[in-house]
Amino acid sequence: MSNNHTSLTEKTTFKINTQAKNIITITSSDSLIKAWQYALYQEEPVLILGEGSNVLFLEDFIGTVIINRIKGITVTEDNYSWKLHVGAGENWHDLVKYSLAHGIAGLENLALIFGCVGSAPIQNIGAYGIEFQKVCEYVDVLNLYTKKSFRLMAHECQFGYRTSIFMYRYKNGYAVIAVGLHLNKQWHPVLHYGDLAKLSHKYVTPKQVFNYVCHLRRLKLPNPKNTGNVGSFFKNPIVIPAVAEQIKFRYPKVPLYQQVSGNIKLAAGWLIDSCGLKGFQIGRAAVHNEQALVLINLDNATSHDVIKLARVVRNSVAQKFGVWLEPEVRFISSISEIDAIEALS
Ligand code: FAD
Ligand code: EPU
Repeated sequence: MSNNHTSLTEKTTFKINTQAKNIITITSSDSLIKAWQYALYQEEPVLILGEGSNVLFLEDFIGTVIINRIKGITVTEDNYSWKLHVGAGENWHDLVKYSLAHGIAGLENLALIFGCVGSAPIQNIGAYGIEFQKVCEYVDVLNLYTKKSFRLMAHECQFGYRTSIFMYRYKNGYAVIAVGLHLNKQWHPVLHYGDLAKLSHKYVTPKQVFNYVCHLRRLKLPNPKNTGNVGSFFKNPIVIPAVAEQIKFRYPKVPLYQQVSGNIKLAAGWLIDSCGLKGFQIGRAAVHNEQALVLINLDNATSHDVIKLARVVRNSVAQKFGVWLEPEVRFISSISEIDAIEALS
């Protein structure tokens, strides 16, 4: 357990200048429990972070931020599948590379997603036609009050589009400590999303899909090393068919994605782009020029700049299309996570 300096700027990909009273990096469940209990004993708020790629600190955090770096990858196999047991503090993209280097396919569409493996189930990360739930066998969770861990099988995690049980029932006082992945040895490429359809089902290899996904992502998404951001700031809204039809009637080019539920997913980036907001700037925060769903920190943006910008984006889309966008990024106040929609209303 190590106690570092207190700036959160480099611990988050938005790179907004904020502080925590205390930042503790832990590498085991035991040290996680100790750090958690010490914060409670001090009557301080406490927050667990991975790589801070899906959070916006609105102000300085007056308590302890625990950074999860529980490591370890164990691979087992049977005739049909690979099984990976992975520590929550491993880096997600490194895991994707590790799996491919060991001849294990199935994670390539999820290349270059930022953050830790233990954060992947929380919002059920997804990209290029695959969501985490497709490869998840189980999630190991630590109850920080009882100090006991338990295993949730994938079907118990209530995975949905950018949501899971870890956002509700197992949110406060619980930590993800490991995940179990299940990858079939018989590989079927998933190539239906966007430009991936240009690849040949017959001849493509997992490494080629990986390379192409990385290439496509680099074209659109800013690298947080150079430009602070949290990926998509808002979720893609899911609306009832009647709402989608009304929008389609007025804007025939609107991309619509049919959902199994019968509802329709809209592309928030397209809606924001259609409001003419690409490049729009408030203070030092701006709408990204290549991908309107990404809000960026040009340099030294404050959380106020980001909030004001997000409000303009949200209000503009609502005015033009009658649809209210909901943030994907988690808003953190000085003591805890707060309701991001309320913060923007
Ligand atoms: P953090 O931001 O550190 O934490 C996120 C939330 O989880 C917080 O509420 C935190 O308190 C909680 N938390 C973190 N670790 C634990 C734990 N061990 N136990 C309990 N709670 C915990 N997401 C996608 O789904 N698809 C994409 O394609 C995608 N692309 C991105 C591209 C870029 C450039 C960036 C910056 C982000 C992108 N994201 C994407 C969002 C982000 O990568 C994911 O949400 C990721 O899973 C967050 O991981 P993290 O470790 O950084 O989580
Ligand atoms: N579009 C525009 N203008 C823009 C942005 C997008 O017209 O500025 C259009 C695109 O042309 C396309 C549609 O909107 O027709 C969808 O765009 P894209 O394929 O880039 O995907 P997205 O819906 O903007 C989602 C995820 C990303 C994920 C990509 C690829 C959400 C909120 N975002 O973005 O995830 O990487 O698909 O699968 O679901 C994240 O969650 O942080 C994230 C980056």
